[in-house]
Parts: sequence; structure tokens; C-alpha cells
Amino acid sequence: MSPSTTPPTGLPVWLPGVETLCYGGDYNPEQWPEEVWARDVALMREAGVTLVSVGIFSWGLLEPREGEFDFGWLDRVLDLLHEAGIQVDLGTPTASPPAWFFHAHPDARVVTRDGTTLGFGSRGMASPSSPDYRRASVRITRELARRYGSHPAVVLWHVHNEYGTPVSECYSEHSARAFRAWVQRRYGSLDALNEAWGTAFWGQHYAEWAHVSPPSIAPSVVNPAQRLDFARFTSDALLECFVAERDVIHAEAPGIPVTTNFMAGSCQSVDLWAWAREVDIVSNDHYLTAADDRNQVGLALSADLTRSLAGGRPWLLMEHSTSAVNWQPRNVAKRPGEMARNSLAHLGRGADGILFFQWRASRSGAEKFHSAMLPHAGTRSRVWTEVCALGHDLAALTEVRGSTVHADVAILWDWQSFWAQDLEWRPSVDLGHRERIDAFYDRLWRDKLTVDFAHPEHDLSGYRLVVAPASYLLTSQGAANLTRYVEAGGTLLVSCFSATVDENDAVPEGGYLAPLRTALGVEVDELLPLRQGDQVHLAASGPVARALDAITADVWCEDLALAGATPVAVFADGPAAGGPAVTRHEHGAGTGWYVSTRLDVDALAALLAPVYADAGLSPVVDLPQDLEIVTRHGTTHSYVVAINHTDEAADVPLTGTDLLTGETSTSSFTLAAGAVRVVRSA
Ligand code: GAL
Repeated sequence: MSPSTTPPTGLPVWLPGVETLCYGGDYNPEQWPEEVWARDVALMREAGVTLVSVGIFSWGLLEPREGEFDFGWLDRVLDLLHEAGIQVDLGTPTASPPAWFFHAHPDARVVTRDGTTLGFGSRGMASPSSPDYRRASVRITRELARRYGSHPAVVLWHVHNEYGTPVSECYSEHSARAFRAWVQRRYGSLDALNEAWGTAFWGQHYAEWAHVSPPSIAPSVVNPAQRLDFARFTSDALLECFVAERDVIHAEAPGIPVTTNFMAGSCQSVDLWAWAREVDIVSNDHYLTAADDRNQVGLALSADLTRSLAGGRPWLLMEHSTSAVNWQPRNVAKRPGEMARNSLAHLGRGADGILFFQWRASRSGAEKFHSAMLPHAGTRSRVWTEVCALGHDLAALTEVRGSTVHADVAILWDWQSFWAQDLEWRPSVDLGHRERIDAFYDRLWRDKLTVDFAHPEHDLSGYRLVVAPASYLLTSQGAANLTRYVEAGGTLLVSCFSATVDENDAVPEGGYLAPLRTALGVEVDELLPLRQGDQVHLAASGPVARALDAITADVWCEDLALAGATPVAVFADGPAAGGPAVTRHEHGAGTGWYVSTRLDVDALAALLAPVYADAGLSPVVDLPQDLEIVTRHGTTHSYVVAINHTDEAADVPLTGTDLLTGETSTSSFTLAAGAVRVVRSA
């Protein structure tokens, strides 16, 4: 995807007046006596901090009683930061309404699907559809924007915090009313609603709009089309809250970009393709999964997804951790060098700012065991030393800012499809969309092929290869787009259980996969999920994919009917024995591949080799798999970020200058175990 030069809202591509890579984190001075603040700011300077996020959870202090505002402390904080040359990403505190709000408006509390009303004393969204919440959140935002709209420290606005978590769906009376209105807008008539939801099934037919309600828990499985629409409504309702705050800020503080921190790749309850169109700058939070000993791959996926959401423009890593988090079952601390590796991996995939949660570790509250830039142990700690070193390194990398990442491969990603696939009564609980995406992504990561993520209806013409690991829900527009992509010369690889339903979770006419019949030359007659633990074997049929011979697969098979495609591997055993397992179809100027079973990341190497050949792609096979290499392209130079995730030193053929050490080479650089190099091309 070629990066576009202007964001959708027409504001500048980056933060005004920011000429370095950003470095910093969430700063919560309200948790500390005022005498600590000056020390904080001095230490921030020592660490090379340039940007801090302030005020994200401060509503109760900024508006202690309804309509009574106290900005004195925030004035002093912003002035202090500004005097020290530290810029501010100013939060609106609307992720955590104050006690008075819930006392005055108990009906604004979130109600869960089983009817539980959620209490106060934590954080989290009020009902996004509560008119009182909307009014109160816009009012505090307006007050903040009026007061600080032209404060010289403020270069970015940070609305709310991580929309969609810790709660997203709300089943309150306010939500029920708003859902009804949303459904009415979407369908226009009850006939259209009944048709889309297939209400002839189980006698659900509606004759009155007033009878339409959210899909609360019911005696058996609730209509999946209704649930899918409720998920869409939820994402839209939250987005309306964001847009209302953003518009107030745009009006009161013109020229300053507005963001909200996404959780691309982890929070699944908001459709970030729609959200990305509404923010001025894309920012993202990413936390490693401690239990995963190859969590660098998940990190890369999240960063690639964020860059894709940003349309290829630079983005901001709004939060990650210097060491352990506090909310996983086992909060494993990062080991020496790991924080820098994580940070530079995000940078390599397009981040122009590296921020943490949080600046100073909290002594009280639910997050006291969470790491920080300034840990409880203070400046004598290893973490502090590494935080200062990273600040120094990022300053040395200033010239990388604004450079972009190019990908030849796109993986399809559609939250609406995930919502649908995650509902009950699917053919097998063992086939997960995320597992399939992770496996294909991991294969491409090991092969050192940089990946963008794309929606099935996006312009895909810039990619040599498009992979659809889990496109369960595919609209007719999406299918037509993929078909055109193949016709025009693209290589498309589709994995099992794709194009199974349309946007209403209804099986398309012609059966499973029918919308992709032209592109793939194959149809699915029957889905054949396997018993838990059962395996099947493939046999290559012909020379195209010889390496698939004797490969083991599991979880899933399908009975395929060929409609023009050539089988390159068949099932040697199992319920589809003798039938095609992997097919290849030349259509127009391109090629459509289909794989009807689950291959693990090693087996995917055998599948992808001939697919890469069709796409004209060259995987890197002569370097260790866990050596990560990604390139950012600037106007005069390229920057290769190479990260050695293995336990042994490795030589990487690269020429140029390592911006972190100043070393130059005309042949290769050695990377010690765990080391990172950022090499500017000669
Ligand atoms: C994030 C959140 C932060 C903090 C952090 C801890 O999801 O935005 O406020 O709670 O997690 O890891």
C-alpha cells in the first residue's frame, strides 16, 4: 500500500512542531504530591523524554462536583512540562466518569448480556448510549479544549482510553433504545430487517419495531445475524462517543491532531477500519503475551496491523511496558535488552514514537505491580538505566522519522467476520480465525516477507500476494474485489472455512465458497471437521507442490468439487480421502490457491513455497528464522532494522552505517544474541 500524504481529516500527517521521534509515556502526576513533579520533569529530561500523556483518568479531580471545575493543578503540570521542553498529549478523562456522575445517573451504568449492572470503583465506560454520559463527556472535553486548546505544550489530544475495553457491549435500556434506532436506520423497513435476520427461522418474525431488542441471553442460541448487528451497533455507538469529543476539540483547538489509543490485534470489539478513518493520527497500545516465548511475532503483527490502519503513514506506539504488566496470570518481567528490542521492533514497522504505560510506577491501586519508566526502585534500577539508554538511542535515530514501510503481501483482516465466526454453533470449536491468521503471519514473518493487513474490499492491486487465512464472512463486494485482483494478475491464497456466509451470517446461494468459485475454480460440498486430536495426511499430486507430500494436517477437512482448479495435493486418508486438499487455479492473469485443511506453521512452508513462486516473491531462507528484518524507506536512504531474537550471534549481509553504534560495513553486520541494528543504506 502506498502511504497517502494526508490523513482523512485533512490535518498534518504528524504532530505539529515535533521534529524528533517521540519518547515518553502516561504521566499521572495527580497520584503524587506536587513536590515530586519537579523531580519527575528533571528525570524525564535525563531519560530523553519528549512527550507525555496527561490527564487520562483525572475526571474526578478536574470536575469534583457536577459543573464545578478545578484546573489549577493541571495548569501547573502543563506549564512545568512546557518550561522543560516536554510536549503533551492531553487526555480527555471520559473512560472513567466520577462517582457523582454514576450517583446522579445510575441508569448510565453498563448492563452486561446476562443483565448484571456494573458498579463503580474501577474504571470503564459508562453506557455509550446514555444521553447523560454523552452530555457530560462532551462538556468536560469542551472545558479542557477551551482551556488548553492553545497551550504551547499540547501537540496531541488523546480522547478516552482504549475504547472497547474493559467493556464494550451494553444491554441497558439506553442501549436497547439506541439499538432499535440503529436497526431502523440500517434496514429502513421491517421487511428488510426480517429478511436480513432470517426471522422466518424459529418464528422470530417482527411486526413492530418496538419489539426489536438487543440479543440478551435467551433459552438457546440467539439469532447470529442479530448478534452480529449488535456487535456492529456497539462499535458504532462507541465511535459516536469518540467523534462527539473529537469534533468539540477540533472546534475549540483547531490544528491539533486528535487520537485515541487503539488495541489493534488484541481488543476485538471495535471495527478499527471504521475508526481509523476518524482519527487524525493512529496510535496503538501493545502488551506482550508473557506466556508466549515467541511473542516478538505477536508484537510484529500488532505493529503491522497498526501501520495498515494508518494507511501506511507513521503511527504512535502509545503504550507498552518497560517490563512486567500486572494483569496476566504470570507477569513475566522483561530481561535486559528486551524493552529496547520491543521498542525498535515497533519503530521498524512504522512507529514514529515510543511511549510507555507509565512514567512513574503507582504506589496505590490495582496497577502497583506494573512496571514503569521510573520503577518503585527508582534510578538505581536496571530498568531506569535501560530507559535512559533507549531515550539516547531514539535521539540517534531521529532521521528515521517519516520513512515508510513497503509490503508485497497483504493478509485479510475483518473484525466483522471475526465477530460472526466467534458466535456459537460453528462446525468446530478447534478452528479459530485468530489461530489461522497467527499461523500464516508467523510463516511470512519467519520468511522475512513484510506484511500489511487489508480489508477484503480494499484496493489490493499493489500486492503480489493476498492471503485470506480466515475470511469466514465475505460480502459479495469483497468476493468480487478478490476475483478482480486475481484476474488482474494477483496471487490469492484462501484458507478453509472462508466465504462461508454473507454480511447477514447467511450461507450464500450456491453454497460455501461459492462467491470465490470463479477466482479459485473450486466449490465446497461439505465441511468435515475432525475429532479432537485426529490427524490426516496429504499426498502431492504432481510436481507443483511436491513438498506437501506426506504433510500432516488436523482439525478440519472439506469435500471439494473441482470447477476448473488443479489439485496439487489430495487427502491421503481421513474423511475426505482421495479428494483434493490443496488446489491451484489460473484465472485471468493471476492464480487462486485454496487449502481446505489446517496446516501448522512448519507445514505452511511446504504450501507457501509454490505460492511465493507464483507471486514472484523471494523469502529469505539462508538466515535464522528468528532473525527479524524489516526496512523503512526514506526519501534519500533506507533503514534496515535487524533484531536477533535467537541465542546465538548471526551475520546479516547489510551495507551502510549502524545508526546506534556508528559502525559501517560494506558487506555484513554481526548481531550478537538479542542485539538490534538500525542500518542506514550507503
Ligand atoms: C492499558 C491501559 C493503561 C494501563 C495498562 C496496563 O491497557 O490503557 O491505562 O492500565 O493497560 O498494562
